Amino acid sequence: MSQVALKPLLATVLGERQARPPIWIMRQAGRYLPEYREVRARSKGFLDLCYSPDLAVEVTLQPLRRFPLDAAILFSDILVVPDALGQSVRFEQGEGPLLEPITAQTLGQLRPERVLEHLAPVFETLRRLKHELPADKTLIGFCGSPWTVATYMIGGRGSPDQAAARLFALQEPAAFAALMDILVQASIDYLVAQFQAGADVVQLFESWALNLDEEAFRTQVIEPNRRIVEGVRQRVPNAPIIGFPRGAAGNIAAYVAATGVNAVGLDYSTPLGFAQNAVPPGMAVQGNLDPLRLVAGGPQMEERARQIIAAFADRPHIFNLGHGIVPQTPIAHVERLVELVKNG
Ligand code: CP3
Repeated sequence: MSQVALKPLLATVLGERQARPPIWIMRQAGRYLPEYREVRARSKGFLDLCYSPDLAVEVTLQPLRRFPLDAAILFSDILVVPDALGQSVRFEQGEGPLLEPITAQTLGQLRPERVLEHLAPVFETLRRLKHELPADKTLIGFCGSPWTVATYMIGGRGSPDQAAARLFALQEPAAFAALMDILVQASIDYLVAQFQAGADVVQLFESWALNLDEEAFRTQVIEPNRRIVEGVRQRVPNAPIIGFPRGAAGNIAAYVAATGVNAVGLDYSTPLGFAQNAVPPGMAVQGNLDPLRLVAGGPQMEERARQIIAAFADRPHIFNLGHGIVPQTPIAHVERLVELVKNG
C-alpha cells in the first residue's frame, strides 16, 4: 500500500512540526483583493455570495492563485448560522452585519430543524473545493463559536464591549442557556456536515473571547466549545479542530486544557513567551502577526514575523495573522510575507 504524506498544514494541526511553518491568512479571501471586489460587485448581496457555490468557490480559490498558501478556507461567514435559524441578518455596505436582536420572548421563534437544509449550498461549495484543490492544500471549514455568534444575535450588531449579550447572560440565565444549547447543537450538525462534504480541518472562531470574567469565560466560552469538540468527534472520530479564542489572554491555558482542540490560534496581543508556557509542549499553535504589520510591510513586518517563527521553532506552528487581514493591505506585502515564511 502506498503511503500518502499528510497535507503539511493538516499534519501540523495534528501535532507534526514542519521544517518551515505552513501558512494561511485569516480572512484571506476579501476586500484587499481586486478580484474579490469584482465578484462581490456582481453578487446580489454578501449572503447571496455565501450561498452561491459558483461564486463562493471562485472567491475561496482567489488567494491561492496569487500566493502559495497551504490552505483554502471555505468562503462563508459565521452569521450564516443565525440566518439559517431564521433570524433576520443583513450586511449593509460599510456598516457590518445588522441583525434583528433576539430576546427571551422571541427565542422560541428560532428554527433549529431547518439549519442543515438552509446551509446546503455551503456543503456544495465544500464538495467542489475538495475536488478542485491540489492534494497538498488543506481545506478549512469553520463556524463561529456560540458565544461570539450570540453577541451578534443579542446585540444586533458588532460592539466594542458586547455589553448587551453580557448583560443578557447575567439577567436572563435560562434564556441564555437555551440559546447556547441551540447554537452548540447547530454548530455540531454544521461542522459534521462540513467534514462530510470534504473539510480537512475546522476552525472555531471565538472572536469575542475578551471582556469576560473568569466565571463567564468558563461557562460562555470554554464549556460550549468543549461540547462542540466532543459532539463533533462523536460523529467524526479524531476530527482535527483549531480553536481561536481571540482575547483569551490569561484564560488560554484553561481553554486549551478543557476544550480538547488540536491547535490554538493566538491573537497578536498574546506575548510569545506567555503562549509557550500556556500551551503544552507538542501542541500546535497558530498565529500571530498583527495585521497592521502586514499593512506597514518592511522591517516592521519582517522582523516580527521572524521573531514569531523563532519563538515557536520547537513545536508545531502554523503561521497566520493574529486576526483578519484588513482591506487596505498591499498585495505586495502579502507576497513578501508568504515568501519569508516559506523561504526565510
Ligand atoms: O477568507 C476567509 O477567511 C473566509 C471567509 C470569512 C468571512 N468572515 C468573510 C467576510 C470568515 C472566516 C469570516 C468570519 C467572521 N465573520 C468572523 C470571525 C473572524 C473575525 O474576523 O473575528 C466574524 C466576527 C464575522 C462577522 C462579520 N462578517 C463581520 C463583523 C463583518 C463586517 C466586517 C468586515 O470585515 O467587513 C463581516 C463581513 C464579511 N465576512 C466580509 C467578508 C469577506 C466583508 C463583507 C463584504 O465583502 O462586503
